[in-house]
Amino acid sequence: MIPVLKGKNVVLGVTGSIACYKAVDLASKLTQGGALVDVVMSEDATRFVAPLAFGSITHRAVTTSLFDPDSELSVEHVALADRADILVVAPATANTLAKMSLGLTDNALVATYAATAAPVLVAPAMDGHMWENAAIQENVSRLKHHGVRVVGPDSGYLASGKVGAGRMAAPEVILDYVRAVLGQGGPLAGSRIVVSAGGTREPLDPVRVITNRSSGKMGHALAEAARDMGASVTLVSASETLDAPPALEIVRVETAIEMRDAIEEACQGADALIMAAAVSDYRAAEASSHKLKKTGGPLSLTLVQNPDILASVEGPTVRVGFAAESRDLLENANSKLVSKGLDMIVANDITELGSGFGADTNKAAILTADGEIHQLPVMSKLELAHRVLEQMSNILIAKEE
Ligand code: CTP
Repeated sequence: MIPVLKGKNVVLGVTGSIACYKAVDLASKLTQGGALVDVVMSEDATRFVAPLAFGSITHRAVTTSLFDPDSELSVEHVALADRADILVVAPATANTLAKMSLGLTDNALVATYAATAAPVLVAPAMDGHMWENAAIQENVSRLKHHGVRVVGPDSGYLASGKVGAGRMAAPEVILDYVRAVLGQGGPLAGSRIVVSAGGTREPLDPVRVITNRSSGKMGHALAEAARDMGASVTLVSASETLDAPPALEIVRVETAIEMRDAIEEACQGADALIMAAAVSDYRAAEASSHKLKKTGGPLSLTLVQNPDILASVEGPTVRVGFAAESRDLLENANSKLVSKGLDMIVANDITELGSGFGADTNKAAILTADGEIHQLPVMSKLELAHRVLEQMSNILIAKEE
């Protein structure tokens, strides 16, 4: 379940491209996220994928014709257009983009586009040379001018056998843009939130680093959730493995010092800082510029302490910490809350089932500066992110009053 999608009416327009098979995955991801997905297919799209494939996933009627006697469109021409919270056209062929840009209404999908007041997102898919074609680019510019958001296309291997720009954006990327668009005007609209993620890496030499087991998943989930709630987000991430979440600003860092510098800059005028990163407390006093060789005996390293970013950063109205502990969870978390002067801290016991590093779930307690403790059950990191942001938002509102 993805909170921002829950109960939302998504009209998914599918047009005749080989990328139709990816639209099935997108329909599935939207449905699993909690959206009510109405698929409208062009006639050509039905040559690539049967309407049944979409209907089986969405459990809703699929519209293929303006004159289909079973279609809601024939009963009430603008029913889908009115109901839509967002219209997503993926894949969007050059032909459909052209029709949309000119306001043609000769099939169910473009008629829905013409009739809707909902935000519209298109994910073009076509051959590379077509995408570069001046007339097609003009149509895309006109659509952008009309407020249509364009996601992709990506570069890579194309169905024609060529390599170039024209591949439909990945379903998970389109999904993120849908979330971002639906989240606009949400409870954090107008807020600037800085989130840190991942475990910092402190070099010992060009090959070795001191790091920790943090995956960055919690921080990335927080950044995505804040974006889905309407905030403008800067994610300062030390994660090496996670992709940049679409539709937000990301600054990639490696060391604690780089993280501090990026956070200090991002926090100017920010409403909140959420430090989910596992910052290395120590770094090598001097990292060797050449690979350290074994000596046959023990090796001693001199480490110096890194700055405490959360305790020292200036700017954000609300500061939220994380405490991953292996014992005395609430006591340790509370002493960090007090000593760092935080508004709130999220404590999680890394030894508990479903709560460790790298997991997709977390079990946490939220402690606030005024002494409240909210014990939460095991939940997905995205759900926990929403709970943390709801608490944070209450504190922010109270402080800004
Ligand atoms: N933190 C930070 N800068 C550091 C160390 C920690 O900003 N140099 C932040 C973390 O991002 C987290 C909170 O402080 O939000 C608590 O981090 P944690 O590693 O649990 O605690 P420490 O303060 O480092 O204390 P200790 O390692 O002694 O438990």
